[in-house]
Amino acid sequence: MWKTSACGKVILLGEHAVVYGVPALCGALQGGVEIEAISGEGRLLVPEWDVATPPLRDLLLPSHADISSSLAIAMKAIVESLSVAIGRPLVPQDLPYDFVARFAIPTGAGLGSSAALSVALVRAIDRAAELGLSESDVDGAAFAAEKVFHGSPSGLDHTVAQRGGFGLFRRGHGLSPLPDTPTLRLCIGHTGKARDTKGRVARVAELCQEKPDLTAACFARIGVLVGEAVDALRRRDFVALGQAMNENQALLKLLEVSCPEIEQVCKLALDAGALGAKLTGGGGGGCVVALAPGREQTVLAVWQAAGYSSFLVEVGGDTRTPSTAATADRTRTVMHAVASANTNIALCKYWGKCDPALNLPAVPSLSLTLAGLTTHTEVRLDPSLQMDSLHLNDREVSGEPLRKVSRHLDRLVRQLGLSGRPFAEVRSHNNFPTAAGLASSASAFAALTVAGYGALVGERALEQPLDRSLLSSWARQGSGSAARSLFGGLAVLGVGTPGQVDSAQATQLLAPEEWSDLRLVIGVVSDEAKETSSTDGMTLTANTSPYFAPFVAAAPRDLLEATAAVRGKDLALLGRIAERSALRMHASAMAADPGVVYLRGSTIEGYHAIVRSRREGIEAYFTCDAGPHPKALTTAAHAERVAAALSSVPGVKRTIIAHPGEGARLISVGVPR
Ligand code: DP6
Repeated sequence: MWKTSACGKVILLGEHAVVYGVPALCGALQGGVEIEAISGEGRLLVPEWDVATPPLRDLLLPSHADISSSLAIAMKAIVESLSVAIGRPLVPQDLPYDFVARFAIPTGAGLGSSAALSVALVRAIDRAAELGLSESDVDGAAFAAEKVFHGSPSGLDHTVAQRGGFGLFRRGHGLSPLPDTPTLRLCIGHTGKARDTKGRVARVAELCQEKPDLTAACFARIGVLVGEAVDALRRRDFVALGQAMNENQALLKLLEVSCPEIEQVCKLALDAGALGAKLTGGGGGGCVVALAPGREQTVLAVWQAAGYSSFLVEVGGDTRTPSTAATADRTRTVMHAVASANTNIALCKYWGKCDPALNLPAVPSLSLTLAGLTTHTEVRLDPSLQMDSLHLNDREVSGEPLRKVSRHLDRLVRQLGLSGRPFAEVRSHNNFPTAAGLASSASAFAALTVAGYGALVGERALEQPLDRSLLSSWARQGSGSAARSLFGGLAVLGVGTPGQVDSAQATQLLAPEEWSDLRLVIGVVSDEAKETSSTDGMTLTANTSPYFAPFVAAAPRDLLEATAAVRGKDLALLGRIAERSALRMHASAMAADPGVVYLRGSTIEGYHAIVRSRREGIEAYFTCDAGPHPKALTTAAHAERVAAALSSVPGVKRTIIAHPGEGARLISVGVPR
């Protein structure tokens, strides 16, 4: 007929210390309990436990023999509390329904299932009897039920169940909501051992007597960590949040509330890439909570393989505000986005990294984005998928290329401050040879960045697109040259500052139409994939070539002069710089140990053909990337003759004439039908 629901809860930081006045950071577990109303006589049914309370008319009898189960006593406590709140007794005619409760979270695991049940039941009774309860009426009735289940509970659970979102709970002060916090996806792993809240609380009390200095220091530090975690949560800084969780876990261990099973479940999560992992709630057993943005499925798989039951939850958000609910839905609905990006050819070469982990270039570079050499990429984020998949030119690809794509999408999730993502199906098409030195990684990662961003953010990506330079920095982390493909025409990618992830971004120097007369002629030598990737080639060069340092030293001046040449549309100057930058890059690569030699006979012959053409008055300048294809920078007027000269080079199979193209483009975003 109709349904009500309420949230479970998870304590993210601060359990046990909360007993001693430190605030605890807790969040609502979305989808805790759902209650369905069906026609009936005021009973509460819990099919999972195979129990039902007596009909309301029996429950209301002054002495009924069957009111021994805590469920029936809780139901009665709710009815009595509501009768006081509405100023008249609730009667059986008020509730011509039975209420069927279903749990989406494990019960008895410290995740607030009883509080969620109490709140959802009060809401169901409110709706069934059209009582028009206030929030404080709901609060009072749910707390009455919680007292039946737990004796003297703190009130944290049912308050979180009712309010949703994140909050700071302080003993004696209740829950202060934390607005402006994101929805987090968290992994919950069950140790398989019953939690021992009572016993552990008692042990901490003993410790306070035995080692007062130690416990006081622990509580003080946990208080600081809770504050840091709140800040990190607000900033969507999941690394910092994970660190706070880990340190809190270490302190909980000192307070003797952990156990070997909890330690093992935490270790498995951290080894599988979680940023933070700790016990949640009473400890001594029970559940572990792990923060592993983008790696949730790996953590769950590792736990399951080790025999620990586990599941994924969404924590926080606000169940009552549609905007955050929509964000939460993003991880539940299928999202699809399509983007395209043109490749680019560097005229001042990027070769070598100053921070390989962040993929920051050691030198600045300048490039021309080429129309017609395009990657189209579709990203479909689908909660029903079991793993990421990649199709490249209609062929399924696994191994390292798939891992790179997964890692890139995970990075986007982090950059966007999202709590996670569903698995993705990525389909990418290149209309030119892949990995043969036509810089396919540039268009590939530019298109993946834009499509991934679209799928993760939804329509907002079209309505309020992000700054392209920022997107270029994200693309750069997939592949340096990809940053420049965010822009059309002539673009510059700056040199990086080690340790600063967004320190190298691309910018546009000239739009394609501002120098539309430029042409790049490519002599295609081979459609085969190259033997050494650019990444490997530049790493070997940086590590072993005595010519790498001079290459890096010369690069800034090349860029300065090339920038001036572009602004002045001085092809002769730009061409001369492009030629020397390419030759120096290859010279430094060839001087590596072992040598990195991309040039073939046809490449060298192509170079001579271009230089010869120049002597004959044709404006053309050589360049070449990490592959064998000779390329010439020229003008529309000379392009055909340059193409003819390159075609006559033995080994050149065909030529491509490309003109300045557009930057990466988000083509569509939406929920597929
Ligand atoms: C020779 O961008 O492919 O094409 O950042 O390691 O992915 P990674 O390298 P990549 O290197 C391109 C090298 C180049 C020169 C250039 O495009 O600037």
